Amino acid sequence: MSDASENKKNILIHMTGSIACYKAAALASMLVKSGYGVQVTATESALKFIGEATFEGLTRRPVITDTFGGKPDFIPHISLAQDWADLLLVYPASANCIARMAAGFADDIFGAIFLANNFKKPVWLAPAMNTQMFLHPATQRNMKILEEWGVKIFSPVEGVLACGTVGTGRLAEPEDMFFRIKEEL
Ligand SMILES: Cc1cc2nc3c(=O)[nH]c(=O)nc-3n(C[C@H](O)[C@H](O)[C@H](O)COP(=O)(O)O)c2cc1C
Repeated sequence: MSDASENKKNILIHMTGSIACYKAAALASMLVKSGYGVQVTATESALKFIGEATFEGLTRRPVITDTFGGKPDFIPHISLAQDWADLLLVYPASANCIARMAAGFADDIFGAIFLANNFKKPVWLAPAMNTQMFLHPATQRNMKILEEWGVKIFSPVEGVLACGTVGTGRLAEPEDMFFRIKEEL
């Protein structure tokens, strides 16, 4: 198991459906090598972009996708949010996930974790999406709501996007996120 060793902390990475999911593997690898405990949760869409085996190999922990996948003494959303995790990071964060968080839905694993945490541990998210999805007033409104609640948002950067266009929407690089996590914890 990759629980945090000695002075290091536990990071929960939630992945959502974006081509940028491959960057989460690089981040998980850096964190584990540096001694952090890493637990990955993922949506079904995220797992269309990258396989569970990659993260299970990197983190030595099963990827959790299902709120009901626990045991009597381990209810994933409660244990991870209120006990295990020191930081919750959505990386990459889809427009859909951002909307669901802003609406307070709890019918998937991270929605339930987000509410169960209730800001006791820091929540960070790094959006990745097409420029127009990012600029859409619904996405902008949802991010504003989350920021007002104390969620830290790592703005996407400008660059060539997976859809072939150039604009804002590229996921923050794993090296940058690793550096920010090391600064925080
Ligand atoms: C090839 C492809 C790439 C996608 N990339 C993104 C993306 O970067 N950001 C995003 O918000 N949605 C993207 N989508 C759409 C999401 O995967 C879709 O909205 C999905 O329902 C998100 O589900 P989730 O939030 O539960 O992971 C992409 C879809 C496809 C088919």
